[in-house]
Amino acid sequence: NKNVGILAMEIYFPPTCIQQEVLEAHDGASKGKYTIGLGQDCMGFCTEVEDVISMSMTAVTSLLEKYNIDPKQIGRLEVGSETVLDKSKSIKTFLMQIFEESGNTDIEGVDSTNACYGGTAALFNCVNWVESSSWDGRYGLVVCTDSAVYAEGPARPTGGAAAIAMLVGPDAPIVFESKLRASHMAHAYDFYKPNLASEYPVVDGKLSQTCYLMALDSCYKNLSHKYEKMEGKKFSIAEAAYFVFHSPYNKLVQKSFARLVFNDALSDASSIDEAGKEKLSPFSSLTGDESYQNRDLEKASQLVAKPFYDEKVGPTTLIPKQVGNMYTASLYAAFASLIHNKTTALDGKRVILFSYGSGLSATMFSLRLREGQHPFSLSKIASVMNVSEKLKSRHEVNL
Ligand code: ACO
Repeated sequence: NKNVGILAMEIYFPPTCIQQEVLEAHDGASKGKYTIGLGQDCMGFCTEVEDVISMSMTAVTSLLEKYNIDPKQIGRLEVGSETVLDKSKSIKTFLMQIFEESGNTDIEGVDSTNACYGGTAALFNCVNWVESSSWDGRYGLVVCTDSAVYAEGPARPTGGAAAIAMLVGPDAPIVFESKLRASHMAHAYDFYKPNLASEYPVVDGKLSQTCYLMALDSCYKNLSHKYEKMEGKKFSIAEAAYFVFHSPYNKLVQKSFARLVFNDALSDASSIDEAGKEKLSPFSSLTGDESYQNRDLEKASQLVAKPFYDEKVGPTTLIPKQVGNMYTASLYAAFASLIHNKTTALDGKRVILFSYGSGLSATMFSLRLREGQHPFSLSKIASVMNVSEKLKSRHEVNL
């Protein structure tokens, strides 16, 4: 099969939200802590009438409807989620209700779980299936859905909720460059949910940031190495038009991209000019561990990265800043923001995505975008998702 990838997308996030400014005041946090400190604008949340099942039902039903897909045409359905409603029964099995009327019970796949990474695992499973000898010619369907809720304290403003559905098949406008992919997997207790009766995670915020950045460095180095072997030239941020990150909160995305710029400077890549390299050279002798804690490096690399960030990352930040951390859906909501903001300008562009799930598992991978053909085109994806309208019609809660 050729050009296997994402054919269609739909996103759902709750119609209820709270401005981070309002939450700041309510929590007694200093002004600007959530908006500037974390880089977040607003947080979406589920009220008692919805949960991950209803959100994903909506996303799947709406995608099938808007693309006029016969439910019989789905051969695989995979869900990525870390929101536990049942310790045994997959969310996927709830979604089978959508297919009941059509009589289609022949749909492979169950849920994938590892913190925010499950959606990526589900997506890879679907792409691999379409590329495999067991593919039966039908579509794969991936759902990423979570409701992120934290205990009272500094992590609470980083909550969020959403569901994203993605249709997978050949001849896609969003194509996987499957050879350009690198993972980093390790054992860590940075964010986990050992209390099975609680929806709150146990989280070591600082450790989770460091784990995220270490995994990012490792994936970037490994992917660059693979690229160099394949293409005979250095990989750097110049090789992709956009970089999309798993987005627990925007500040970490800013720091992450700056980290890639620091990597480029260290490897003397041509993406960074001499002035930029000079600003970062004082930090070249730091050990890995030191470099994650060094505030001056953080500041200097963010400064050097700023113009590149605005161009290559800025267009991906809309939904994560407006809705918050959607766990498995966060990376794909960032990607959806890019399609919403740039749509037809994405034709021919390479986009690098970084998926991170605490615990931990991470993958950096590459997509090639092309406008595609009706009904599976980037313009159609943007119009179906209708992000502006969905954001505008939300109800803001006041405390
Ligand atoms: N105005 C502007 N900035 C401010 C203000 C203010 N009034 N007050 C604080 N800040 C800044 C701080 O300087 C800091 O910025 P910096 O990181 O650039 O230095 C930032 O706000 C955060 O403040 P801190 O005191 O460092 O951290 P805090 O105790 O608020 O916790 C954290 C933040 C760790 C992100 C917390 O929200 C958390 O634990 N979140 C969940 C864990 C998480 O998302 N981890 C990411 C990867 S794992 C995953 O995806 C779940």
